[in-house]
Amino acid sequence: MKDLKDIKNRAEKEVSSARNNETIRQVFQKYLGKKGEVTLILRSLKDLPEKKRKEIGKLANAIRQELEEKITIKGRAIGAKVERNKPKKRIDFSFPGHKLTTGHLHPITQVEREVEDIFQRLGFSVIEGPEVESEWYNFDALNIPANHPARDMWDTFWLRSNQKIPISKFQIPNKSKIKNKNQNLLLRTHTSPVQVRYMEKHNPPLRIIVPGRTFRYEATDASHEINFYQVEGLMVDKKISAANMKAIMERFFEMFFRQSAKIRLRPSFFPFTEPSFEVDVRCLICGGKGCSVCSKRGWLEMAGAGMVHPQVFKSAGLNPRNWQGFAFGMGLDRLTMMKYKIDDVRLLYKGDLRFLEQF
Ligand code: DAH
Repeated sequence: MKDLKDIKNRAEKEVSSARNNETIRQVFQKYLGKKGEVTLILRSLKDLPEKKRKEIGKLANAIRQELEEKITIKGRAIGAKVERNKPKKRIDFSFPGHKLTTGHLHPITQVEREVEDIFQRLGFSVIEGPEVESEWYNFDALNIPANHPARDMWDTFWLRSNQKIPISKFQIPNKSKIKNKNQNLLLRTHTSPVQVRYMEKHNPPLRIIVPGRTFRYEATDASHEINFYQVEGLMVDKKISAANMKAIMERFFEMFFRQSAKIRLRPSFFPFTEPSFEVDVRCLICGGKGCSVCSKRGWLEMAGAGMVHPQVFKSAGLNPRNWQGFAFGMGLDRLTMMKYKIDDVRLLYKGDLRFLEQF
């Protein structure tokens, strides 16, 4: 009993001399916390004989209650004091506000939209196709049969190579023309399959471009990515010649690079065009004299192109005797790199804001 009274006296003194939240918390812990002096006495009651237990228990409980109240009151008083000493909040109207940062379109998207805009002004419609494609559209329909070495031109990501999809599951007009009744799926290696998809459903005359994402299974370096973007072009009518193609492409490059452009066609090979060309643009940096950008050649390789192969018209259900057309395929990444003088294609896919914020 004497101990208890002693505890009470000490505790009350400490409470009244406490000046801040921290000390009041310490006082609480010292006497009423888990291992506090009062708490320990209350816990030891069970070992005492009944009479003593009642007596001491009563006093200890009373002290606990009283202390608790005093600590709460004191705590509030200190809290109130702290509150009262706080400086009043003021609004400084001259303080500069937070700068709002907004995102913006990726450089490739910006270039894609510009390309679309230019071709639309030249009378072309913008068409899209699927990124997961069947073997038929990506290869066979474009005159690239299975087991033909021409397929080696496109390193391909195949999907589920051990499990073919029956042709009956595809929504393809005139399925009967397709010999291979079980189709592999793949990630399209170029945008050319959309030529056939479009001509199946639309009769010429027609002018379309097809921008989109393409994939190649190959090692990456400064000019190769496994994922990149192309834009396909297709113009079909009764009398379309390579001269039409040259005129349209020259006009496009002039509008895109905003300077006079000269192009040249070099003979090349693609299974879906005959004849086939490589389209070069006179170097935009040196004007043809030869510099590091064009590797001293004076010309930059910008697109593959050619006159639509009769087999491609047949794949789409059109009679090749009735129609002529040209097609081309350009790398959107390449256009972006030329426009902004970027020397590594991988920069476009890193998502590094230090790079992207420059556009
Ligand atoms: N599809 C070709 C490629 O990815 C590019 C191409 C060449 C597209 C000639 C065409 C074309 O439409 O006529 O390498």
